[in-house]
Amino acid sequence: MAAAYRCKSRLLPGDLDDWTVGLGTVVRVAVVGTGHVGLVTASTLAYLGHDVVGLDNDPEKIRLLKAGTAPFFEPGLEELVAEMKATGRLTFAETVEEAVPGREVVFICVGTPARASGEANLVAVETAGREVAAQATGRVLLVEKSTVPAGTARRLKTTLLRERPDLQAEIGVASNPEFLREGKAIDDSLRPDRILIGADDDWAFEMLRKLYEPLTAQGVPLIETDIATAELSKHASNAFLALKISYANALARMCEKAGADVLAVAEVLGSDRRIGRAFLNAGLGYGGYCFPKDIQAFERLAGSLGYDFPLLTEVVKINEQAIDATLDKIRDALWNLEGKTVALLGLAFKPGTDDVRFAPALALASRLIEEGATCVGYDPEAGEGAAREVPALTIASTPYEAARGAHCVVVCTEWDEFKTLDLAKLKEIVAYPIIVDGRNLFDYDQVELAGFTYYPTGRPPRV
Ligand code: UDX
Repeated sequence: MAAAYRCKSRLLPGDLDDWTVGLGTVVRVAVVGTGHVGLVTASTLAYLGHDVVGLDNDPEKIRLLKAGTAPFFEPGLEELVAEMKATGRLTFAETVEEAVPGREVVFICVGTPARASGEANLVAVETAGREVAAQATGRVLLVEKSTVPAGTARRLKTTLLRERPDLQAEIGVASNPEFLREGKAIDDSLRPDRILIGADDDWAFEMLRKLYEPLTAQGVPLIETDIATAELSKHASNAFLALKISYANALARMCEKAGADVLAVAEVLGSDRRIGRAFLNAGLGYGGYCFPKDIQAFERLAGSLGYDFPLLTEVVKINEQAIDATLDKIRDALWNLEGKTVALLGLAFKPGTDDVRFAPALALASRLIEEGATCVGYDPEAGEGAAREVPALTIASTPYEAARGAHCVVVCTEWDEFKTLDLAKLKEIVAYPIIVDGRNLFDYDQVELAGFTYYPTGRPPRV
């Protein structure tokens, strides 16, 4: 098929609204796992013109998807799924038997949670691989999209061939890690900085080149490596981003002691093209489902390979200190925490998502509650999830409701909505006019004009 498809969705990010992709050869794809990575992969591959079936062993997720509801919040995704379903290029299935026969490429997008040891738990990857192999009817390429330790594909292939020795020449394994951020997942998938393919034979490279041809034809760089290199690059990339954040947070601690301004330091560093400004925002630190788990898994992998990588331990330690530093500011402002009420603005691990997994805001809430404070939180999307994680946290339905009667207001997640808060109104309803800004969302002038005492992060107090 050679045609052009213009996406009609008004909700696609930025100029993708008006973006025309040339469709190349249609590849028959199955995506195992319809979580954040899987569902975005399935719907964006359908957008690129491929024939895609999404599969999940959670029947509730498939029921929701068939009924037209995305099982989680991601801007533009529900609309894109609906649009792709309407073209007939995206369908959903509950069983491997239904989904896999006749598919040429099968993406494994299942979870790789951390074991207690920090190592990645790959049971779901192995199970998915074995189930797919059992149903494969012809030549099939299994592609790891989930973040896995280097060496996983090799092990997976050995296991699959034990199951299906008859498919010796038919089963291929490749690595094609995702680099998508929650909240920007569609844009990251359709306009990636690069596409990474790790494979060990020409056929696998050919299949994946065909799959991404609509993007590479638009100039998206394609990097081809061996499988272990692709697997390791994904972990290395996330660990480096976390390292950048921790570096900024360590600088924030230094700035606080030296009377310097971490925002200006980040500008100076960031204006050097060798460093770059991105991911140098000091604050409450990183959270989410990827960075905390991937850093630990990467460190464990290093250990299992016989390489000691203490730099990664330090990254985690500095990230934990970011919470301590914010807690110290609250203690400094309030003296005893018992009997005091703290309002937390933002509970998701970052703006643009309802995800509270490893959210720094919730770690802070638990510490405050442990020390005797009452905590009231507000988040535009994540209130429900936060209440499940920290039942002692009261959830308010507006930022003002959260702040009413509070002795201290803490900015934990930098949602745009907070930038335009009516600070004069906020001042009228709080018990003490104190703002601890865990994300440097506000300016001194703005907050001080409204009559608040302001505690930014890594910036000198103004006297
Ligand atoms: C990350 C990677 O960016 C993505 O490439 C990978 O595939 C999955 O993991 P995500 O977890 O969605 O994506 O979030 P990201 O936008 O990278 O932010 C991670 C965390 O770092 C958030 O808690 C965020 O608040 C924090 N952060 C980010 C900072 O504290 N400072 C910064 O400068 C940038």
